[in-house]
This record gives sequence, C-alpha cells and structure tokens, in this order.
Amino acid sequence: MSIQQNSRLRIVLASSEAVPFSKTGGLADVAGALTGALSHAGHEVTLIIPDYTPLRQGKAGVPEVHDTGLQFTIDMNGRPMTGSVHWALYPQTDARVLLVKQPVYFDRGQPYGDVAGAYGDNSERFCFFSRAVPEICRRMVLRPDILHCNDWQTGLIPALLNTHYAKLGGFERTASVMTIHNMAYQGAFGKSDMPLTGMHPGFYNPSHMEAWGHLNLLKTGLAFADQLTTVSPTYASEICTQEGGCGLDGLLRWRKSALTGILNGIDTHVWNPATDPVLQAGFSVDNWQDGKARCKAHLQQRLGLADNPAAPLFAMVSRLVDQKGLDLIAAIAGSLLARQVQLVFLGTGDRYYEHLLQETAQRYPGQVSVTIGFDESLAHQIEAGADLFLMPSRFEPCGLNQMYSQRYGTVPIVRQVGGLADSVIHYDGTADSLKTATGFVFANYSAAGLSAAVDQALTAWQDSTVWNRLVQNGMRCDWSWDRSAGKYVEVYRRALGQVLQRRAENRL
Ligand code: ADP
Ligand code: GLC
Repeated sequence: MSIQQNSRLRIVLASSEAVPFSKTGGLADVAGALTGALSHAGHEVTLIIPDYTPLRQGKAGVPEVHDTGLQFTIDMNGRPMTGSVHWALYPQTDARVLLVKQPVYFDRGQPYGDVAGAYGDNSERFCFFSRAVPEICRRMVLRPDILHCNDWQTGLIPALLNTHYAKLGGFERTASVMTIHNMAYQGAFGKSDMPLTGMHPGFYNPSHMEAWGHLNLLKTGLAFADQLTTVSPTYASEICTQEGGCGLDGLLRWRKSALTGILNGIDTHVWNPATDPVLQAGFSVDNWQDGKARCKAHLQQRLGLADNPAAPLFAMVSRLVDQKGLDLIAAIAGSLLARQVQLVFLGTGDRYYEHLLQETAQRYPGQVSVTIGFDESLAHQIEAGADLFLMPSRFEPCGLNQMYSQRYGTVPIVRQVGGLADSVIHYDGTADSLKTATGFVFANYSAAGLSAAVDQALTAWQDSTVWNRLVQNGMRCDWSWDRSAGKYVEVYRRALGQVLQRRAENRL
C-alpha cells in the first residue's frame, strides 16, 4: 500500500531520556535532536519522556513546563498507580514534549540508578512508562501515524499496541518502529514481573516476550514492532551475528528484512565550535589554529595540566563501562605517557574504572587529568581543547563523540566497529588517503592495535601540513540530522504502509 511521499506524518517518539531535560548518554542527544529535525522537516512531533523532576529543575536550557490537567491510572499488578502529564515546547521547534509525572517512580536525581547501582524497581518503573505512552495517546486523542520507541525502556509499547490497544481502537492507522541504541541493555527481568506488563501471561513465550528464561523487554519490542532500526549500518550487520547479537541474533536474523541501520546525526547548533558559548574562543574550519590553541591553553589551566602547547593532548569523555575499551587504554597508558603526551578523562560509571583512572592521574600530576562526574560544559571544552580523541570501543552501536570531535577539529582514534567504522576514515600515511581521511582506525581489539594507531597519529601530529588536512577534513564533514531524519521518515512510511496493507487485507 503506498503512502503519499510528502504527506505530513504525526509522530510520537517515546524515550526514557532526552536533552535538555535528562541525559546519561547518547540516547538523550538522539531523542532530542531527532525530535527537532523531524519537526523542522514539517512533521507533527510529540516526544514523550518520564519527568525526572529533580533532574530538570533549574537546569540550563530546559523550557517552561505546564500541567495539562490530564491524569491517568494504571493497575500495576493490583496496585493502582496514578500519573499526570505535563507539557513543554521543544526548544526552537513546534514539537511538543509530554512529561510523564509519577513521583514514586520518577522523582529521582538519576534516571536508572545511583551510586548503589541500578534501581531495584526499574522493570516496574519502565513498564509503567511504556503503558502510560499509548494510554496518553488515547486519552489525548493523538492518533499518531507512528509510535517510535527507543531501547528496552519502551519495548513494551509495540506489544501493547498490537494487543490491548488494537481492541480499544484509535490506533488503526498507527505503526510502531523500535530503535535499538544498544543491544547490551535489554531490560531482562524475572518471569514474576510479567504481571507488571499488562500483557496476557500467554505471551511469556520464546516468540514474544521471553528470552533465555527471562522476561525481556527489548525482545518484546523487536518481536512486535512493524519496523526495526539501529543506529549505524555496521551495527545493523553486527547484531545479526552470534558475536554481536547478545543472545537475540536469531530473532534479528529472522526479522532482518524489517531492520535498517541509520547513522545518528548530531545537533549542529549545540555542537558548533564557532558559536559554542562555553568555549574560551570560537573557531571554524578555515581558521581553527588560534581559537583551538586558546581553548587548549584554557583547558590545561582549568584541569591543572602543564601549560605546554606542544604536548599532544589526548582526551576521552565517556561512560566508564566495559564497552568503551578502557582496559586497552590502561594497558598502553605507561608507554603513551612516556612520550610526553597529556591525557584528559571525563566520565562516570564502574567504580573499578573510576579508581584505575584516578590512580593514573595521581601518578602523573600535570600530565593526566581525571574528572569523575557528568559535566556537559566541560565535555564541550574538552572536545575543543584536545588534539586527539580516544574511542577504542569493544563495541559501539554508533557513538557520538567521534562526530563531535571531528566537528571540533579533534582527530579521533577509534576501533573499526559499529558506528565508529561508519564515521571515521583512516589515514594510512599516503597522500591519496589524506584527501579524505579524518582520523585513525584500528581493527583488532588489542593493546597492540590501539598502540599502532597511536603511533600513526603521533607521526602525523609532527607534520603540520598533514595535521591541518586531517583536522579540516573532519571539520568539513556534515553530521547534521537532516539526512538521517529523512531515512527515519522512509522507515516510518514503510511501517505505515505495512499497517494499512494489513488492514486492507483483513477487510477482504
Ligand atoms: P553512549 O551513549 O554509549 O554513552 P555516545 O558516544 O553515543 O555513547 O554518547 C555519549 C554522550 O554522553 C555524548 O554526548 C558525551 O559527550 C556524553 N557524555 C558521556 N559521559 C559524559 C560525562 N561524564 N560528562 C558529560 N557528558 C558526557
Ligand atoms: C547507545 C550507544 C551509542 C549510541 C547511543 C545513541 O548508548 O552505546 O553508541 O551512539 O546509544 O544512539
């Protein structure tokens, strides 16, 4: 069934975090920027997120939030839980944000956990959120063409649409799309949590909601959604293999024809070295040296590093988890630091990595700086002040920092995996490759692989003509959302076509 190619779509995006309201990682950047890009493309967009009230209050850039007056109650396994809906305009767009307020579940300072670890009631919290989304759409008569779900926290939604809400009506023309941002987080819980989902217990089976003896909310979304996407073409292939599928590769191979890899974009207004308000000096592709040098000097001073313009400054801004390749960095740190480079880390995560990095900083004062915490303006200053950015990830669905780095004239060193492979072009030392290269890419997950890439980078650093070209190639890349948002719209139209086709067939 064909859908008019230029018709305006009514899109509801559901996400457990979105900038500027809340952020723990790239999902928040993507949910926010995609909302803006789809709205700018002329679609009617509603973003639905949980309202982590203490997290957004007083936060820079958060728009004014109003009460809609709508309240709804969901029976959470015999416990009636009432939520309310607040709204805001998404900054600089016509898109609307609906914030799901439920003080017991969401009045917390962090979305998923605190220093003691993940919250024990996460399955209940996000089952509530997932059940709230179609209920709010029904009560507000939103009648979306597309319900776009993101990660396990919203995985239940496509299942509810195809079952409970299919019977209630109001969603006859609604298609669901499920986006995987990271297969490593699946929302796997005990079978005893099944009543929280509001789904018939019969769906606890390997074709629908059960995987490897657990209720699996990501799998639920992958089994029920009309179309599936993930955040880079290479990751789309990797997750269909046993090595990259985290136990769900069989299902993904089965649904391969419905799976599309779409590379994330970045918000080029928020991440713009020419206008970024937190930088010491702005700079642009044709005149980056002076501005970047001032940003570097400011960063060295702010972080207590030696004031040395000639020392290549390597940086990393990251969740400190196994995924990010910190063990490789630890393995080469000694030999790297012997080469008079400087190292800057900003991150939070596993205690083990936090301590490891802090110990390194203590051993190399003035040469290594480690900031444990979440600091968005420092992240911008690091992107601007560093010379090289490290992302030796074990796996990486997309990764955003390698794109921010290129835009800020910071040359990335990445592993050839997932979205990193799709967004950094390797410089192999030849004049031909210098025409397009934007960084250094190594294949094997090993200290030797990373070390060889660092060697290549430090050789290139010594030649200012080569370095200038690498920086400029990266700064000229277009990472804006416009192209990727268009690809999502293609997927949306495909999903809607499927739904309308099914309806037509059922009528016959
Ligand atoms: P992931 O989503 O796996 O964490 P991405 O590269 O897609 O990885 O996105 C990470 C985002 O979170 C980037 O915008 C990065 O700048 C930001 N970020 C990560 N850790 C911190 C931190 N400690 N402080 C500020 N920003 C951070
Ligand atoms: C995930 C991935 C990261 C990706 C982000 C946004 O957290 O780890 O690679 O960029 O989601 O899609």
